[in-house]
Amino acid sequence: MILVPNIKKMKTGIISFFFLTLVRLSSENCDKIVCTFLAKSMRQLKVDTADIDTSLCPYLKIKFVDYDYNALHVDRQVSDIYPWMWSAKAENPNMKVLLTFYNSVGSKNFFEMYRTPAKRLKFIPMFIQYLRKNRFDGVEVDVGMGFVRRKNIYDIERWADFIEDLQKDLKADSRRSGKPKLLLFGRIDDRKKGVNQLYNVSRIYRHSDFVIMDAWAYYSQRLGPRYNMSISSMHHSKVYSINNTTDDRSIDYNVNALIAKGGIKEKTIISLYLMPTFFYEYSSFTAVDFGWIKHDNYGAVCELMHKGGNITRVFDDCPIFRQDRIVVYFDDEISIAEKVKYIIKNELAGFEILDLSADDFKGLCAKGKFPLMRAINEECGKTLIDQ
Ligand SMILES: *[C@@H]1O[C@H](CO)[C@@H](O)[C@H](O)[C@H]1NC(C)=O
Ligand SMILES: *[C@@H]1O[C@H](CO)[C@@H](O)[C@H](O)[C@H]1NC(C)=O
Ligand SMILES: *[C@@H]1O[C@H](CO)[C@@H](O)[C@H](O)[C@H]1NC(C)=O
Ligand SMILES: *[C@@H]1O[C@H](CO)[C@@H](O)[C@H](O)[C@H]1NC(C)=O
Ligand SMILES: *[C@@H]1O[C@H](CO)[C@@H](O)[C@H](O)[C@H]1NC(C)=O
Repeated sequence: MILVPNIKKMKTGIISFFFLTLVRLSSENCDKIVCTFLAKSMRQLKVDTADIDTSLCPYLKIKFVDYDYNALHVDRQVSDIYPWMWSAKAENPNMKVLLTFYNSVGSKNFFEMYRTPAKRLKFIPMFIQYLRKNRFDGVEVDVGMGFVRRKNIYDIERWADFIEDLQKDLKADSRRSGKPKLLLFGRIDDRKKGVNQLYNVSRIYRHSDFVIMDAWAYYSQRLGPRYNMSISSMHHSKVYSINNTTDDRSIDYNVNALIAKGGIKEKTIISLYLMPTFFYEYSSFTAVDFGWIKHDNYGAVCELMHKGGNITRVFDDCPIFRQDRIVVYFDDEISIAEKVKYIIKNELAGFEILDLSADDFKGLCAKGKFPLMRAINEECGKTLIDQ
């Protein structure tokens, strides 16, 4: 593997002028790197904000606030992060901080708000004021589709109306205040097969500055002969479908499906689930099978690797680790680089880390803290220089 020095170290002399010009021309499809700070899991895992190198996160997303009885509901776990976020922004003025407005599709209150024009037009300005007051640079809007079968409390056109009205008001707010417009990130999770259409994709794209899409694949939590699934036949984050046809479990499949429904490549940010998935071997009556035991972070995989075992690479360099009766599906620096290459090749907007605590935040992989985040930044920079 050829290592190319970090762009930041190259900003000297005449050569740097050449490089910087190239970087400006070509960086659009690699600079939307969104790191998600999921307040709840970060607190549970005791990830210290002091550990986070914010220079690796051009966009830091804090997740989440929701709607409750005519007002914005903000958990203490979330607002407790704000003072740290403000000082991180002071140190790194280029970093943009986003707040996620997340509500479940089953929430009646939320449904009443966005489907009723008077209620939504009352709520939106209040929300924008909150974002400004707390010095956010943008907002992500997300409907959790967990209870999507309760069709009577979801309406795809009214949800698109909410996004349209929010964008209108964000523009008006910018004109009025003279400040840069707050960015609007839509979110689409269109992977559920066999359910009704969940989004008006073209409207969500039209009214959002960017759209974050969930692009990883669901798999059964059981493996083995009894379930007709061999260890090496799956990986939740493979880039391409096998033989480009019937296989709908790849990033490429999900991206193409969304574009076909009216998505726009240059606005699309791919979100990947990077939490390693652990399985354990057990004996059933007929054969040896594997059952899901837990999700954990990349550091936990490295801790296991120090004690032996081996890695097999399947599709697009995705690693599977085996040690005795444990099997782990995960992503490492090599497989992550393949995803960045895909994003650049297809001229998508960028990459989202769904949960920063999925990375090795303690440095157990002996490569410093947050090696996956650093690999993404490095691969983006490297490709720019290679061009
Ligand atoms: C989405 O909205 C547009 C504009 O209102 C409409 O023309 C189109 O039919 C809708 N698409 C779907 C798939 O509902
Ligand atoms: C197992 O998978 C193979 C290959 O995809 C398929 O031909 C076969 O019918 C499957 N068997 C069962 C019992 O599902
Ligand atoms: C994919 O293509 C390879 C080579 O052409 C073939 O051997 C394999 O059976 C195909 N797999 C599927 C799932 O169609
Ligand atoms: C699938 O199709 C894409 C684009 O058409 C191509 O770049 C890629 O190499 C193909 N992959 C396989 C495994 O055939
Ligand atoms: C990798 O580990 C598995 C399970 O421990 C073992 O069966 C296999 O032989 C190992 N492969 C190599 C190449 O060491």
